[in-house]
Amino acid sequence: MPTNIIVVGDAALGWAGVGPSLEAVGHTIGRADDLGSALDRALPDPGAVVLLCLRQPDPSVFPALEHHAVAPVVALLGQPELAGVLDLLRAGAAEVVGYPQELDLLPTAVERVFQRWALRPARLAGPLDDDEVERFGELIGASRPMRQLMALARRIAPTDASVLITGETGTGKELVARGIHQHSRRGEGPFIAVNCAAIPETLLESELFGHTRGSFTGASAARAGLLVRARGGTLFLDEIGDMPLPLQAKLLRVLEDHRVRPVGSDEELRTDFRLVAATHQDLEQAVQDGRFREDLFYRLDIARVAIPPLRERGPDVMALARLFLAQASDRLQRPVLGMSRRAALRLAEYPWPGNARELRNCMERAAMMAEGELVELADLPDRIAGYAPEHVLVAGSTPDTLVSMAEVERRYIRRVLTAVGGHRGRAAQILGFDRKTLYRKLRAMGGGD
Ligand SMILES: Nc1ncnc2c1ncn2[C@@H]1O[C@H](COP(=O)(O)OP(=O)(O)OP(=O)(O)O)[C@@H](O)[C@H]1O
Ligand SMILES: [Mg+2]
Repeated sequence: MPTNIIVVGDAALGWAGVGPSLEAVGHTIGRADDLGSALDRALPDPGAVVLLCLRQPDPSVFPALEHHAVAPVVALLGQPELAGVLDLLRAGAAEVVGYPQELDLLPTAVERVFQRWALRPARLAGPLDDDEVERFGELIGASRPMRQLMALARRIAPTDASVLITGETGTGKELVARGIHQHSRRGEGPFIAVNCAAIPETLLESELFGHTRGSFTGASAARAGLLVRARGGTLFLDEIGDMPLPLQAKLLRVLEDHRVRPVGSDEELRTDFRLVAATHQDLEQAVQDGRFREDLFYRLDIARVAIPPLRERGPDVMALARLFLAQASDRLQRPVLGMSRRAALRLAEYPWPGNARELRNCMERAAMMAEGELVELADLPDRIAGYAPEHVLVAGSTPDTLVSMAEVERRYIRRVLTAVGGHRGRAAQILGFDRKTLYRKLRAMGGGD
């Protein structure tokens, strides 16, 4: 694929040999005065690769490399000793090619970097391509668990079976419910969402079942319930774990015989809806504790979609961060294109107790705070910018902030992977694992594919 190559660095170094060999395979070549301006030019151009020519390892390039993580950099290095190569890779170069020994490898290195960068889920700027993420309705996902979840949701959607969606707060339960509705035979019908936890117990029954005029104080007119208005469509009962027990019994009856009796009425109305329910609670536990009816639980739990927390979904963090950043910069009319590598590393380390919703709010704020085209670490909310997993390792930690070795390892693996732009071979090298071991660990973390 022809690429726009921006050359920067020691001009004398191999220019005569480098330019023609790349032009011969169809790339266009431009020059920049310093790495910063090369990266600035490459930033909005998805077809750009920066070629950094260095006679010898030069630490003065590291800040620019670390700062911009949004364009792929291939380094051509005159003294390719291991330490210098590793330093460049750690700072963010995607490939290092020895000069002049490996010059013939340069075109394939550029091609490989371009392909990998274009495909890699953790690319830090620009719109998401379809080969980077899977979509289901408005839901996106790059991680293995989310891809599996969307495949399951696609199978369930057309069946009309009741669905129970579980997941921590902010994991996207409502989006999954909407996606299932859209992909069902009822997609043209209404989607009625009711939050059982937000409506006072006394009102919930008349909201759901409707009421006749004068059936209770304040019921000045007859009103059709949501169970009837959902006819032909999908009823989404959010936080069903909070539904009072007497209403649970009434709901179960409606599910069995498709008839609704409004409050204060002798008449029954026919209805026909598909039920999708969601909860952040452990419903099995609620059944054991007597807070949730066992018969209703089994009636609901025909198809279960369990959304894992964001911290277990590796590449989803970067994919969602980009999506939310693009949405926020559209809405705010601020041209924020991406994030610095430092900011991205922090997002990858942070455990996201509020899941995708917390990430969306974080990126909205970042888009507002950003002064240039990139979100910087300081543009993130303090609790995230200041989150430092390394601190849990040092003296002075309290028992509450200490984590297990396994968690330390997971965090460090994520950190290294982000630093090397998702390149697993390089990550394995730095971590001292063989590739198989790294793949196994990634699969266990939910980031493998
Ligand atoms: N995979 C995803 N792709 C795109 N947007 C997402 C995804 N997951 C969550 N979101 C967005 O994050 C926010 C929270 O999602 P949603 O409201 O569906 O979560 P929830 O699980 O219903 O949360 P709660 O338990 O607090 O009700 C929404 O703005 C939603 O659009
Ligand atoms: Mg919700």
